[in-house]
Amino acid sequence: MQRVRVRAPGRVNLLGEHTDYAGGLCLPLAINRYVEVTAEKRDHGVRIETSLGVHEATCVEPCQLRWAAYVMACCEMLGIEGGFALRAAGDLPMGKGLGSSGAYTVAITSALAELFELEVDRVRTAWQAERRTGVDCGILDQSASLLARVGHALLLDVTRGTHEHVPFAGRIAVLSTPSSRELVSSGYNQRVREWREAERRRREGIELGETLRRRVEHIERENQRVREGVGCLRDGDLEGFGSLMDASHRSLRDLYEVSTPELDACVARAREAGALGAKLTGAGFGGAVVCLLAPGASLPLADALMLLPAAGVSSCS
Ligand code: GLA
Repeated sequence: MQRVRVRAPGRVNLLGEHTDYAGGLCLPLAINRYVEVTAEKRDHGVRIETSLGVHEATCVEPCQLRWAAYVMACCEMLGIEGGFALRAAGDLPMGKGLGSSGAYTVAITSALAELFELEVDRVRTAWQAERRTGVDCGILDQSASLLARVGHALLLDVTRGTHEHVPFAGRIAVLSTPSSRELVSSGYNQRVREWREAERRRREGIELGETLRRRVEHIERENQRVREGVGCLRDGDLEGFGSLMDASHRSLRDLYEVSTPELDACVARAREAGALGAKLTGAGFGGAVVCLLAPGASLPLADALMLLPAAGVSSCS
């Protein structure tokens, strides 16, 4: 194959925030906003073109430009040394907690795997590539982008390595805060380290202390909320599901301390405007809020972005 084109969706996470790297449960939904990557073979070297610029190199090598570093990291994971030109575009907002880096690594991995006819586990390859760029992230975003099914939320059990498609009848809208953020410079990696430290202390029977106790409480209760949320979806109880989203946001704000005043204000606006539930989506520290609405409803706010549940990655060679 000489040329491939791949579209990878972003995601909102309905419940199960900051649980993936702790081996827990998550409930994302892929959305109809995409990263699109076109890749073509050429004799040698690498050419990467995005809306942020063009980068040319004679071979795959580490790169300071973040948007190019993702491509290099995917190549390293795939064992590709060069010989391609890659163009990325799309309508998925970047840095808003909508899984853009996950979708980007999935689109790159899928396009290059198809172009060079490589059989790999695309979820794990794309996930490890993102980690190579300096974010100690979990596997949530890549899984959502690759495995999602239209009209369904995706129940992920990270420890078991399993997933299940759960029918989703609600509607979703997103409210963004004005600022974008990059995970690598946020407090994200620190939260991952705190979790590992809490695990170590628990193993060794050392007291957790107040901060770690709060972090662990969030994760344990958030996993429970995912279980209950799946029950609500199966019973058609969207109001119950919305209450769990509200509780998740409060926990992310008070126990996990990853919300911001802007995100809290978006949640309050969404609830006043009639959302059944609202919470920050993704890592927090800025980004966006996901709002749950009844079937057929919309959010009467000028800046609300209505989104549709989407299928996972697709290729259109
Ligand atoms: C980011 C990471 C995910 C996950 C979420 C929080 O999106 O990439 O792995 O940890 O934050 O739930």
